[in-house]
Amino acid sequence: MLKDSQRLVVTTDSPDAIAAINQFIDQALFYGKDAEIAILQAIAADPNCALAHAYAASYYLSQENRIAWQQSQPYLQAAQKNLTKISNREQLYVQAILAWANKEINVAIALHEEITNTFPRDLISLQQGQYHYFYLGDKERSLQIAQKVLPANPENHYLYGMVAFSLEQCHQLAAAEAMGRQATLMNRYNPWAHHAVAHVLETQGRVDEGIAWMESFADTWENCNSMLYTHNWWHIALYYLKQGDVKKVLALYDHHIWESTEKKSPKNQVTAISLLLRLELQGVNVGSRWQDLSAYIYPRIHEHALPFQDLHYVYALFKAGFTHWGNQMLLSMEEHASSINPFLRQGWLEVAIPAARGMVAHAKGDFNTAIAQLEPVLPRLHEIGGSHTQRILFEQVYQHSQNAMLLVQKQSWIYKKVS
Ligand SMILES: [Fe+2]
Repeated sequence: MLKDSQRLVVTTDSPDAIAAINQFIDQALFYGKDAEIAILQAIAADPNCALAHAYAASYYLSQENRIAWQQSQPYLQAAQKNLTKISNREQLYVQAILAWANKEINVAIALHEEITNTFPRDLISLQQGQYHYFYLGDKERSLQIAQKVLPANPENHYLYGMVAFSLEQCHQLAAAEAMGRQATLMNRYNPWAHHAVAHVLETQGRVDEGIAWMESFADTWENCNSMLYTHNWWHIALYYLKQGDVKKVLALYDHHIWESTEKKSPKNQVTAISLLLRLELQGVNVGSRWQDLSAYIYPRIHEHALPFQDLHYVYALFKAGFTHWGNQMLLSMEEHASSINPFLRQGWLEVAIPAARGMVAHAKGDFNTAIAQLEPVLPRLHEIGGSHTQRILFEQVYQHSQNAMLLVQKQSWIYKKVS
């Protein structure tokens, strides 16, 4: 047995495997683009290392697509093969990833809580616990799980970034900004901390500061994975959109958010959709970008990795005029909502499905239906995850529908008066 960079025991005798695991841990916390390479190197160095296999499985699951889910399966099986020979922490972690693969998110969360209680240096487990809380909209517990391990990791700048983002989601903006800035002072290469402060500046309408803050760190994102690279640039685009600089926003979309990034990545697709829709709500003609993007959405139709993501995909399909695919996806979402496990079913049935119908109606220009479907679920949208900044989109769609209906009523009133 050896110890990793978190001073936690790993069941392996291979220093090469430990070195690669350490690289994976750093890449995961940095949101780096070499996480996959690192963990596969660990497995190559020690094919019997159960934790390395579980890390690989978690990496693929975090890609949120069907192919990656399939890729995770042999690693999960390999991790379980040595379950009796590994430490308690490793056993808990393997079980947590297994629960994630089975969509038993409540079980996964309980295990990550248990791991972080007993092994507060395990920031990979913490990160995954926060991921699940994020997509359940449980911002308080996301903050609690990060704060509870702070005393054990006073030197870890990544943890400060994780706490900062949760503080922001809990509306503790001053504390979030201080924590995010502190993380960045400890180490400039902390894109999640940059992102946490970006949220604060966005929420407080400090647009110029936001641009200056994020652009001053953009050079450090070159080795980020495409998810955070595009997401951080998306935040910059939102600032420029607030300034009304549409030309700049379209240029950012083309150069940093869609055209030059990983187009098959679900997260990138969601980010791009979110920006296109915001542009359109401001009356911008986005050209053929809906069609370009939606051609990549086909594999998403029956996946249903996360309801928050599905609301974006189904909207894009209708906006692009891919009505047949859009109808297929909506139907598939409804079937999925009825068959998923009870823990997730409520959010799907009571929030995601009406919201999806509302989004589809808006995409079709049926604003009455959009209002009727979206209005009841807006107060509950946090239940299907995403950040405040991301979810504001749905409120904007609702507001746009209302404005459109008011305009119709006004025009009809003027017409009656004239005639
Ligand atoms: Fe964000």
